[in-house]
Amino acid sequence: MRYSDKLLLISGTAHTELSRKISEELDIPLCDAHVGRFPDGEIDIKINDDIRGGDCFVLQPLCPPVNENWVELLLLLDCLKRASAGRITAVMPYYGYARKDRKDEGRVPISAKVVANTLSRSGADRVLTLDMHAAQIQGFYDIPVDHLYAKPVLLDAIRGLDIEDPVIVSPDVGGIKMARSYAKALGEGADLAIVDKRRISGSEIEVEHMIGEVDGRNVIIVDDMISTGGSISEAARICKENGAKSVMLAVSHAVLCGPAIQRLDACPADRILVTDTIPRHGASPKKLELVTVAPLFAKAIRNLHESKSLSVLFDSLDD
Ligand code: R5P
Repeated sequence: MRYSDKLLLISGTAHTELSRKISEELDIPLCDAHVGRFPDGEIDIKINDDIRGGDCFVLQPLCPPVNENWVELLLLLDCLKRASAGRITAVMPYYGYARKDRKDEGRVPISAKVVANTLSRSGADRVLTLDMHAAQIQGFYDIPVDHLYAKPVLLDAIRGLDIEDPVIVSPDVGGIKMARSYAKALGEGADLAIVDKRRISGSEIEVEHMIGEVDGRNVIIVDDMISTGGSISEAARICKENGAKSVMLAVSHAVLCGPAIQRLDACPADRILVTDTIPRHGASPKKLELVTVAPLFAKAIRNLHESKSLSVLFDSLDD
């Protein structure tokens, strides 16, 4: 693929604050672009800078309102393609619809595949994302997908707290791999425990048992996302019931929809550490602490532009 040495950053409206931080980290201004709405709600886009031949990175997480942000991203990609961009990378710090990655019952869509099809068809040459709910979604693409992890960013913050006698807890069986990798990275003495969770509906879950010991220990519950807050608040509750000394939540994506804020405020967690892949508008849970992924994305974008390896940033869960 031919592209010039012009590295161009184009921001959608999904998370302008993160776009600004990434631009500051790279010391490259965001392209002058109008991304607005026509009176009827349709999306109105016009890039005012010359982007011909450039290495273009479109910054747009697929966070709520996910459908608006998705279509905006598609139109930005199409706009760049038609303006003769040299290479186009869709940068999605949060990948929406990733929980619909298979047909687990009759007559349901595979929405994550539809996201992949539409991105590729609209002009994306690459995708850069972080902690996709299911890493195998990469296989839905025939273009390169670079998958970063929030783990190094969250681990830095956790290490800074000097937590004694930690035990890493996965709020469900699906999160064991992630939890094990955190436990391993924290070194000797960091054990692993698992919550036995059953999902009743999109927002309701039931927790009955814990596998592993948390009595008298400082618990760190790790997960890829908090959506309605049901899984993680129930996990915090059962850890406390089983004698945990303190409970901290460390989560990659704070979607925080529906009853999430009330659930998190009511749950017995002492600290709630999340990254800033999703913007916070309005109220936030009282104990929420944000750590930024802007330097991680800035480094990844720089390395991609310079055709350097990204594996040094991956800090994969397979460690
Ligand atoms: C589940 O597999 C995920 O890792 C999260 O635990 C889940 O999606 C969170 O959803 P909620 O906050 O609605 O329980």
